[in-house]
Amino acid sequence: MTDQTKTWIEKDKKQLHPTYHPKSHANPLVIERGEGVWLYTTDGQKILDGMAGLWNVNAGYGREELAKAAYDQMKVMSFTSNFSGMTNLPSIQLADKLAGFAYEGLNTTFFTSGGSEANDSAFKTARYYWKRKGKPGKYKVIARKGAYHGITLAATFATGLEKYHAMFGPAMDGFVHIPAPNPYRYDGQLKDGETIGQAAARELEEAILREGADTVAAFIAEPVMGVGGVIVPPADYFPLVRAICDKHEILFIADEVITGFGRTGEWFALKHWNVKPDILCFAKAVTSGYAQLGGMQISDEIRETMESAADNEAYMHGYTYSGHAMACAVGLKNLEIMERENYPARAKELGKRLLDGLKTLAEFPFVGDVRGLGLVCGVEIVSNKESKTPDVALAAKIFKAAEKHGLRSRPLGATLAFSPPLSITEDEVDEIVKRLGAAMDGIG
Ligand SMILES: Cc1ncc(COP(=O)(O)O)c(C=O)c1O
Repeated sequence: MTDQTKTWIEKDKKQLHPTYHPKSHANPLVIERGEGVWLYTTDGQKILDGMAGLWNVNAGYGREELAKAAYDQMKVMSFTSNFSGMTNLPSIQLADKLAGFAYEGLNTTFFTSGGSEANDSAFKTARYYWKRKGKPGKYKVIARKGAYHGITLAATFATGLEKYHAMFGPAMDGFVHIPAPNPYRYDGQLKDGETIGQAAARELEEAILREGADTVAAFIAEPVMGVGGVIVPPADYFPLVRAICDKHEILFIADEVITGFGRTGEWFALKHWNVKPDILCFAKAVTSGYAQLGGMQISDEIRETMESAADNEAYMHGYTYSGHAMACAVGLKNLEIMERENYPARAKELGKRLLDGLKTLAEFPFVGDVRGLGLVCGVEIVSNKESKTPDVALAAKIFKAAEKHGLRSRPLGATLAFSPPLSITEDEVDEIVKRLGAAMDGIG
């Protein structure tokens, strides 16, 4: 390590990092620049970013067009308030572009700065909606164990990963967790003849009945669980979930913060199962991480319910940066790039190549499962293939070894996640497999 990099690391201690532990942040990679799928450290190390940042840099690093879109907008007008009585052109144009883009009938967008705010907005909107419908008792949110929905207080307690709660209790009232349909390791109860999808959907209905449908506002789910370990649900799950939500008058919130904008091989992931949410949350790839932007789209029915609010029922919700002009201008340009370069098709094709490649690593005695949908994949490390015992320590070791081979993944419990930029080439996909294989060989 160069003296200059040591100095940077020393100075870096003046900031507190996300999900921080001093031990895990002891020697961070100091990244100086990026190009395509590649990151370069101040020490001159070249790293293949197998995670596209944090599942978000879909268009890859160093895109002139996006830099120019930000520059041009900032020069004209970087920001104006979007609070009542004012609006701006980029947010109008992006909301117009997004109307019906993800799902038919979701034509109204509320902008945020990221995914946690999008989910908080969805919870508050669900409560608002039911109050307007004359059912103020419907306030609870049912979420899944293993889910990650972000880090604001409400999103933290919607998240179904205990480690995110442990130091921030007491838990917020109104969040209930049920098992998610993990085809590799289902932790709910299977009844005779049931598929995992049916069992997990039954858990939703049972939770609704247990809590009382008149107390439940919404169900939230990631179509493909990300931070929980890249869990791809069985095909029968979401259609059953949709039917149960309809039957009991529960709003279905799709958290597509990772899966949106082409990542899984469709523009939005519930399309794989022909299902439509009532509220859609997005962030990350809407700007490919070039600007801080997220949002929530609501169904026409929710919009109409809001339109008819009485004078004392205003939607008192919004962020300073809702509809940020520069961020929306970048989002518009990014959407143009994603359409031009046909990202869903790329994710489908290159995702298959990545998954097939990663599956060749299943011959290692510690690779328990290899799974994915489009360009989001997970490799689960186990200490025993028969018992499927997750091996978190070994996964961390392989992650570190891969980094030495110039490959960045993300260890999520015992699963190594891969979610590279959708601009990745075939050769670069093969590099991921080659470098991970080399790292595993070294462990072996
Ligand atoms: C599925 C999902 N929802 C919400 C979030 C939170 O988004 P943000 O970090 O932009 O607040 C994330 C972040 O990784 C996520 O993966």
